[in-house]
Amino acid sequence: MTEVCLHGLNKIFRGGERVHAVKDFDLEIASGKITALLGPSGCGKTTTLKMIAGLLRPTSGDITFDGKSMLSIPAERRGVAMVFQNYLLFPYMSVGENVGFGLRMRHVDKDIIQRKVAEMLELVRLPGYEARRPKQLSGGQQQRVALARALIIEPDVLLLDEPISNLDAHLRDEMRELILGIQRQLGITTIFVTHDQEEAVVLADGIALIFGGQLHQFDEPNVFYERPASAKIARFFGGVNFLEGVKHGEQVETPLGDLYTNHQNIGDGPVLVTARPENLELGAEGENTVQARIRSHVYVGTHSRFKVQAENWEFEVVAEASTVQKFQDGEVVPLKFPREKIWLVRSEEQ
Ligand SMILES: Nc1ncnc2c1ncn2[C@@H]1O[C@H](COP(=O)(O)OP(=O)(O)OP(=O)(O)O)[C@@H](O)[C@H]1O
Ligand SMILES: [Mg+2]
Repeated sequence: MTEVCLHGLNKIFRGGERVHAVKDFDLEIASGKITALLGPSGCGKTTTLKMIAGLLRPTSGDITFDGKSMLSIPAERRGVAMVFQNYLLFPYMSVGENVGFGLRMRHVDKDIIQRKVAEMLELVRLPGYEARRPKQLSGGQQQRVALARALIIEPDVLLLDEPISNLDAHLRDEMRELILGIQRQLGITTIFVTHDQEEAVVLADGIALIFGGQLHQFDEPNVFYERPASAKIARFFGGVNFLEGVKHGEQVETPLGDLYTNHQNIGDGPVLVTARPENLELGAEGENTVQARIRSHVYVGTHSRFKVQAENWEFEVVAEASTVQKFQDGEVVPLKFPREKIWLVRSEEQ
């Protein structure tokens, strides 16, 4: 297994307009883990992946595998396999020939190739598909062939560029499960690219969130919900509740009254108080409570979701399903911001 590290990595494209696609990127990707590079379109995900694969040369910085610099090592000797955004199967080859390609290049014995191809097709749940042509397969099946073709060379590092985003919702779930299953079974260091935060959360042990070529936060998935490093990150992860305030120690002065926080993650001064909808409490009394009017509600079976308003601030609250029976739309009720559940981020957007 292989630990992958990026050290002050930069990529500047100079053909025509100058594009600084990857900026001072530092990242330690633990051996045997599955890591997501997450961010909006154009933020530099594919560029980063290609530099790790050895398909693009960094402008500056270093890439190490288990502490050894890869810059002078050509792509085919890095022990890396990459599955591209648009899978790129060879259309004129059968599925079996596609999957066996990497081994044929390495002059492996025909019988062994045949056996390995069968094993790989089994692994991606396409047993017996050797003779088909890529165009006789669905998109999801083609993607799985591309995965089998990558895995057959037994890479130390598996790189997947948006492996799931081209698939419809049902196939997406199946492919997620397949990738997770294979990754756990083989324990291979896996880095995958996605612009979908839900996909990153479901699949990854760690998420590197990138905006504009820069790493903004690298953490376990739950941390992005509970302790986002900025308001922008909170919003990217679906955060909707924000309240302006000024922090003095554990006290935060807000237009709705003083709130108290257990967290000292940032210094005193202007802040935004943020909380997940499921962490706000309707009807609860005591500290950190403001008066809010219920604007609307929906009952979703397993829970209920309220929109509430306090002065000019709107909040969403997710509560137990039965809460809908307790409150009427238009009613003014206490809204609690539990001190251990609220989180503070800097008020200004970067
Ligand atoms: N060969 C190139 N020459 C010039 N600019 C490039 C080149 N390749 C990528 N870029 C630019 O670098 C930036 C990052 O591109 P990249 O393909 O890494 O984005 P991405 O995060 O993978 O986006 P997507 O989610 O759309 O695939 C973009 O602004 C892109 O236009
Ligand atoms: Mg891309």
